[in-house]
Amino acid sequence: MLPHLGKIQHLFYYIALAVPLVLLTYWLTRRFALRKMNRVVMKAEHNYQQQIASLQQQLSGKVNMLEGMVEKLKLSNQELNRLNEIRSKFMSVVAHDLRQPLSSIQGFTSVLMMDSPQGGGNNDQLALNNILKATDNMNQLMTDLVDISMIESGKFKMDFKNFNFNQLLNDVYTLQQMNAQKKGIFLVKYDYPTDVMVYADRFRISQVINNLLGNAIKFSPQGGRIEMRYSVQDGWLLFQLSDEGPGIVHGEQTKIFQKFHQSGNNRALRKQGWGLGLSIAQEIINAHNGEIGVQSAGLGQGAQFWFRLSLEPEAYI
Ligand SMILES: Nc1ncnc2c1ncn2[C@@H]1O[C@H](COP(=O)(O)OP(=O)(O)OP(=O)(O)O)[C@@H](O)[C@H]1O
Ligand SMILES: [Mg+2]
Repeated sequence: MLPHLGKIQHLFYYIALAVPLVLLTYWLTRRFALRKMNRVVMKAEHNYQQQIASLQQQLSGKVNMLEGMVEKLKLSNQELNRLNEIRSKFMSVVAHDLRQPLSSIQGFTSVLMMDSPQGGGNNDQLALNNILKATDNMNQLMTDLVDISMIESGKFKMDFKNFNFNQLLNDVYTLQQMNAQKKGIFLVKYDYPTDVMVYADRFRISQVINNLLGNAIKFSPQGGRIEMRYSVQDGWLLFQLSDEGPGIVHGEQTKIFQKFHQSGNNRALRKQGWGLGLSIAQEIINAHNGEIGVQSAGLGQGAQFWFRLSLEPEAYI
């Protein structure tokens, strides 16, 4: 074949034939590969879109479910609020209505005490004394329950006025001194500084101090010592009350400010209260934008309760 051509020319001839063939093959395989790749990509895209569509479907199902749950929660929340309001109202009406007969019982008991023959060991006197104590406790519980229902219904309002803090402490001291003496407890009040004026609710702050002092007397052993002091620092008044009672373990020191929480092993002492005094005290101090707390090195180490109130009236606005 092609005898008149030399070897080199032969070579060129074959190359000239082979190059388009190679190029054609390359082009065909590339085209084929591209098509195949295209098909794979399209299939992947299709799967991907299907997955997205099913995810979207699932998601919208979940969103619908969540919306339903939120709606249900809203309704049950409304119902809970309504029931809570009824409970608060019921509590304050019951407490209010019980107070009247209670004060009649107290009044008549005091009259009977005056009429019955005096003297140690007199059974009538002892019984009347017990009735008076029980009615005092019930009265305290009624007062606390009314306060709690007012707190819960947002009606616990403070009546801010300027007053002398030392005079308030003197009043509380005079009232509680007798209770301390009855238990053989030594109550000490440090009288310095003397002329600190505080802008606060006098009645509610004396309620806080009475609660703290009442606890200190209740939990102190006979012969124990209770100290009240206060100081002024950086625009704050700091009140401190220390006792030599059973103290409070570290883990309980914030819990005792919760409603109905009582700690310690002494069941008899726990029975003398309901675990409400400190929670009410905390609400009162919070309403003054103040702080309240306790420090105790642990069981048997006594306790030091404290609260602080701002001396800047703007703090209450
Ligand atoms: N000075 C204290 N020393 C030791 N524990 C105390 C002292 N004061 C309070 N606690 C503990 O904190 C708990 C809660 O006190 P809180 O005044 O709220 O209730 P309570 O005195 O038991 O009852 P209530 O005040 O309703 O009569 C008490 O039961 C007691 O365990
Ligand atoms: Mg108490």
